[in-house]
Amino acid sequence: MSARSPLVLAIESSCDETAAAVLGGHDRLLSSVVHSQVELHAQYGGVVPELASRAHVMALPTVTREALQAAGVGPADIEAVVVTQGPGLVGALLCGIEFAKGFAFAHDIPLLGVNHLEGHVMAAFLETTPGFSPPQWPFVGLVVSGGHTSLYACEAPGRYAEVGRTVDDAVGEAYDKVSKLLGMGYPGGAAIDRRAARGDGTALRMPRPMLHKGGADFSFSGLKTAVAQYVEANPSSTEAEIDNLCAAFQEAAVDVLVSKTLTAARRLRYRQVVVAGGVASNRWLRAEFLRRGTDAGVAITVAPPALCTDNAAMIGAAGYARAAAAVASGVGFDAAALDAVATWPLGREV
Ligand code: KG4
Ligand code: ZN
Repeated sequence: MSARSPLVLAIESSCDETAAAVLGGHDRLLSSVVHSQVELHAQYGGVVPELASRAHVMALPTVTREALQAAGVGPADIEAVVVTQGPGLVGALLCGIEFAKGFAFAHDIPLLGVNHLEGHVMAAFLETTPGFSPPQWPFVGLVVSGGHTSLYACEAPGRYAEVGRTVDDAVGEAYDKVSKLLGMGYPGGAAIDRRAARGDGTALRMPRPMLHKGGADFSFSGLKTAVAQYVEANPSSTEAEIDNLCAAFQEAAVDVLVSKTLTAARRLRYRQVVVAGGVASNRWLRAEFLRRGTDAGVAITVAPPALCTDNAAMIGAAGYARAAAAVASGVGFDAAALDAVATWPLGREV
């Protein structure tokens, strides 16, 4: 393997997914393995940090071995390691970081930390389908996940500025709370996605919080409360009415996301939007972004569904260029200063 396109191992463990991936180029994904802890945490209705850490410790070696095997390479072929440094649960992050340090130390190869949010955005650059054309810089990046809902001005690789964020719940959190409220389990985004597809979102009206105020900031707790009030006022709803409720909730949330993202693009004079994060796998969100983006003359790239929820491929995509530069400059392992960072807004130095 030439020094210009080294084999890079990526590790992700910031929340409740243990993941490893191997890349052979900045957009060349050779393997991606994700071990989800969803079943472990579902019984508690949310992620239990202590359990997440223990599960990461157990899964990291297996997931990494599987990623190496799927890529058809051995541990000694890897030339650099990139790992999620933050933001996330400190204990969970430390599991991946220590594992990555051990791997890099054993092979005396460089180790670099990656911002998880940059990872979500960069997932949109991975070539997973033939004929794929990557998004063009600069672009507005929208990250919609269980922990984050933020808009970024993405000027160039590594140069990001947050232009808006949620002032209360993340949109994924709203999906999960609504799902819990309706007895549809945790996490609930995918379940609401399915039920909403059968419903009629115009059958009832849901609020669109902060649609015309707050600049590029979002709010989703009022929408969740509106669903709670509907459920309380209509205790004997039929299945079809619940489908309609899911559709109305989802259409309200997506309307605000699409409107504010396209407004930010217009203000910044950017012609490209990138949408990523777990909620970006939502079918209504994808369809609405494509429809309204086309109408507004803005190119829309939504990360492939399999790379929207947490994975290591996106961490590899975000860290690849720096890893390749480290390999080219011949640096070996240096563990100094690579520590977990629980709160790390994208665009800020560690
Ligand atoms: O990016 P992610 O895996 O983890 C975080 O970094 O938070 O996002 C998880 C979130 C959860 O809130 C989950 O309910 C939501 O993404 N999600 C969805 C869908 N699939 C996952 N939300 C809406 N529709 C979906 N199809
Ligand atoms: Zn995430």
